[in-house]
Amino acid sequence: MANQLDSTPGLLGYVRDVSLRDDEILRELRRETADLPGGVAMQVMAEEGQLLGMLVQLTGAAQVLEIGTFTGYSTLCMARALPVGGRLVTCDITHRWPAIAAPYWRRAEVADRIELRVGDAVDTLAALSAERGPGSFDLAFIDADKANYPTYYELCVDLVRPGGLIIIDNTLFFGRVIDPAAQDADTVAVRELNATLCDDERVDLSLLVMADGITLLRKR
Ligand SMILES: C[S@@+](CC[C@H](N)C(=O)[O-])C[C@H]1O[C@@H](n2cnc3c(N)ncnc32)[C@H](O)[C@@H]1O
Repeated sequence: MANQLDSTPGLLGYVRDVSLRDDEILRELRRETADLPGGVAMQVMAEEGQLLGMLVQLTGAAQVLEIGTFTGYSTLCMARALPVGGRLVTCDITHRWPAIAAPYWRRAEVADRIELRVGDAVDTLAALSAERGPGSFDLAFIDADKANYPTYYELCVDLVRPGGLIIIDNTLFFGRVIDPAAQDADTVAVRELNATLCDDERVDLSLLVMADGITLLRKR
């Protein structure tokens, strides 16, 4: 069995050089976000944004749900990849960060495909379930407060259609998942969710050792 390659800074730089398709809107949004406290850690890395766009294209997802907008980088990457008529609902608990995103979404001409819902995402997802019913999304991307990950996952299993995709970000959580000393609520929630997913008969899964860990789950 081949082993996982160590990802050195040199190798990651090479990957970026030979595979990242970038543009001025993405670069400017990354620059503006990097100036915010904790901005770099919160935003998906550029390569992950590109992967999210590809996953939207590969699945042909026309109804996309995102939990955790922040300054809208992952939103932008997925919205650009939507088919004609596709829509993306993105949730955040505050207007503060998505307000930064809005001009970039307009510049990229995807603002009309994006619906922002502000409030606690648990309430937003319950409202979406009541409004649209189970199975109403083709793809869901979970990237908000980690302590609620198990709840978001359960709600997404309901909201995503059979054959649809659930993507969970930060499933290695800066490596803390394997540190027994890390017992904070966020780490415990991610660790516990990871432990249940492998035996969850409702989904097929793959955990990608990319960025901070990205788990892909196809709903059966
Ligand atoms: C890691 S960031 C999302 C990053 C984003 N996907 C990107 O690529 O830029 C997490 C976001 O979740 C939001 N958030 C935290 N708790 C939340 C909650 N209970 N409900 C909804 N959003 C929440 C935060 O305000 C923050 O903007």
